[in-house]
Formats: sequence, C-alpha cells, structure tokens
Amino acid sequence: MSNFAIQPVSRFAGSSAAIRRPKEIAYFSYDDDHVFHLDERSLRYYYPPNLGVDLSKGFDTFQQLDDTADDHLDGLLKTIIDLEQRTGTKCTAEVVTWRGMMTKIMAAPFDNMSGFEMNATRFQDSIFIEENHEHKLESRKQQHAQPSRRGAPSQDLMSFWGYKFETLSLIPDQWDSTSREVIETRENMVVNNYAQYCSVVKTGIGKARMLIGGEVDALWDCKPDNRDDPINWVELKTSAEIANDKDTLKYERKLLKFWIQSFLLGVPKIIVGFRSQNGILQRFEELETKNIPGMVKRGKGIWDGNLCINFTAAFLDWLKQTITTDGVWRIRRRERSPVIEIFRNEESGCGDILSPEFIEWRNSR
Ligand code: A3P
Ligand code: MG
Ligand code: MG
Repeated sequence: MSNFAIQPVSRFAGSSAAIRRPKEIAYFSYDDDHVFHLDERSLRYYYPPNLGVDLSKGFDTFQQLDDTADDHLDGLLKTIIDLEQRTGTKCTAEVVTWRGMMTKIMAAPFDNMSGFEMNATRFQDSIFIEENHEHKLESRKQQHAQPSRRGAPSQDLMSFWGYKFETLSLIPDQWDSTSREVIETRENMVVNNYAQYCSVVKTGIGKARMLIGGEVDALWDCKPDNRDDPINWVELKTSAEIANDKDTLKYERKLLKFWIQSFLLGVPKIIVGFRSQNGILQRFEELETKNIPGMVKRGKGIWDGNLCINFTAAFLDWLKQTITTDGVWRIRRRERSPVIEIFRNEESGCGDILSPEFIEWRNSR
C-alpha cells in the first residue's frame, strides 16, 4: 500500500502547473431510451428558461434512469475503438477515465467530507480508472438513509429540480431553427434523464496526458467549423437563492465542483438557476468558468483553483510511478482522511475495467 498525502495542502500553492486546453476528439450519445450511439443525436442547445416556474412540476412523472448496473468504462472504450478504427492511429493518453473521477481527485484538497473508491489498471502504457461501483451504490444508500431536515424537500425532489431546470433550458436545435411552440412546450415536457451527449476530450494537467469523457449539457450557439477552435459549451446548474453569509459560503463551496467539472472538459460557461427554498426558479446567472476561482478568492476564499491543478499534477505523477504493472489497483480516499491510498487488489489482468471488446481490439493491432 502507498499513500499520497493531501495535507498539508499548502505545499501545492503557487502559480499553476501546465495545462492543456481540452480538445474534443470524439463524442457519443445515449438516446431517449438510453441506447448508445456513436453520434451527436442528443446534443442540445441552450435557450433561457422562463422565470417563476415551479421546478417540482412533473416530479410525479419523472423518468429516472436506473443506473444500478455497472457500466465500467464501456461507452468511453467503444468510442476509442471507433476513433482508432477511423483514424488508424492509437490514442496514447497516459490516463483514461470519466470526468467524474478526475473531479473527485481534483476537489480532494478542499472537499474533506467526500470519500471515494476507484479501480485502476495499466494496459499498454495507459492507466484506466473507473469508479468502484459497490462503493458508489453504498454511499448513495447511506445518503438516502440520512433524514432530511424537518419540512425540507427530499433529496429525490431536489435532484429532480436539477433535471427539470435542464429541461426548461434546452431546445433540440439552434434557437433560430426552433419554433416558438417547441420553446413554450418545455414547461410541460416529461422530464427524463435517459438522454445524454458525452464529449471525449484530450487534455493534460502537469506532465500527464489524459483522455476524459463526460456529459455536457448544451451548446450556446453551434460547434465551430474549425475543429481546433474551442466549443461554446454550456453547463446548467441549480442552486438555492443566497440570503445570508452562510448561504454564500455554501454556494462558494458548490462552485468548487462546478468549476472543476467544467474546467476538465473545457466548458466555458455555466448557467446557474437560483431557486427559492421550495423550488421556484427565481433568476439565473451566467458564469464564465475561467473567472470562478477569482470570484471565490475575492469572496470567502475557501478554495484555490491553482492549488487544485498543482495537486492533481502531483497526484498523477505519483499515480504513474505507482501503477507500473498490470493487475487491478484500488485508489481510495476515506472520508476526512488526509491521504489517498493505493493498493493492488488483484495481481494480474485488468479485472472488469476494460471490456473484452477493447482488449481484443488493442491486442489485434
Ligand atoms: P444540479 O447540479 O442543478 O443540482 P449535471 O449538473 O452534472 O449536469 O447534473 C444534472 C442534475 O442531475 C443535477 O442538477 C442534479 O439534479 C442531478 N444530479 C447529478 N449528480 C447527482 C448526484 N450525485 N446526486 C443527486 N443528483 C444528482
Ligand atoms: Mg449534465
Ligand atoms: Mg448540469
């Protein structure tokens, strides 16, 4: 077992390590039935929602995806196979994972309460990292077991508000090709979280070159003609209206995850829908992702973006030096722990992290 110390975080302070601007190299969609497709059919566009809407409306007909099955890295690996078949070149990232895993790592210096468990394996010079599914289900169960404050909305309802806000803010095509009728019927649409558009980007933090996949909510306008230009993605978020100092602190804590999530995929803009305690959409604010660390620094100053980047660069260096042989490794941070632990769980193979299809494709080349 080896440990990577998170604390003291001050040793990661200072100007930020090198970063590569994320560049989309591939994408995939899950359709309205959550069927996988190697295309952009679930891409959506942003169009501002009406204010004053009750975000709870339609909770009773919410179609929520059952994600109790473990999908490992399947969608990402299918996309890599397709990309390699189309281009004839191998993706040579040192780290391959979902955006959610990188978010947990990058937030670790300032998020003491969230533990995590991941599985990792080295295969052909890349380290593949997935979430440990049992741990995910277990923490979800524990979260649900916690009673809500008296009179407070349930966690399920609050989670619905997020999806409802997305439904209220998205249109299927660019606004000038979308009819008034489609825009106005958004408020009565059944909310469904089956469909997703996922962007797969090449990026880098410090010395590590990475391939990351993650969901993006919407486009601001359209994708640029030049594939090297940045894409005007929009991330949608909801947050409780801020009434006092304590709320500001809570909000700035949330901004850490908002910022990291969008930073990792190169999403330049976040639309935050502010809602009342009982879920009425009151106003929204447009945040530029790159300005968020500065906003927090001038605010309560409870986290430091450069420090997160430096921490991640150092962690990835250490990961590359630690996971040097095959087998299945566990990356774990227990709640409140000052360290991230790594140990080898299985002496050989790749466990279920890599699909047979992916291994076969790579071995056949
Ligand atoms: P909010 O972030 O506005 O609460 P994302 O913002 O990542 O695109 O996710 C969309 C919505 O899914 C979230 O909206 C939230 O409602 C729900 N959601 C995402 N992750 C969740 C989690 N771990 N637990 C509960 N709900 C979650
Ligand atoms: Mg989303
Ligand atoms: Mg969102």
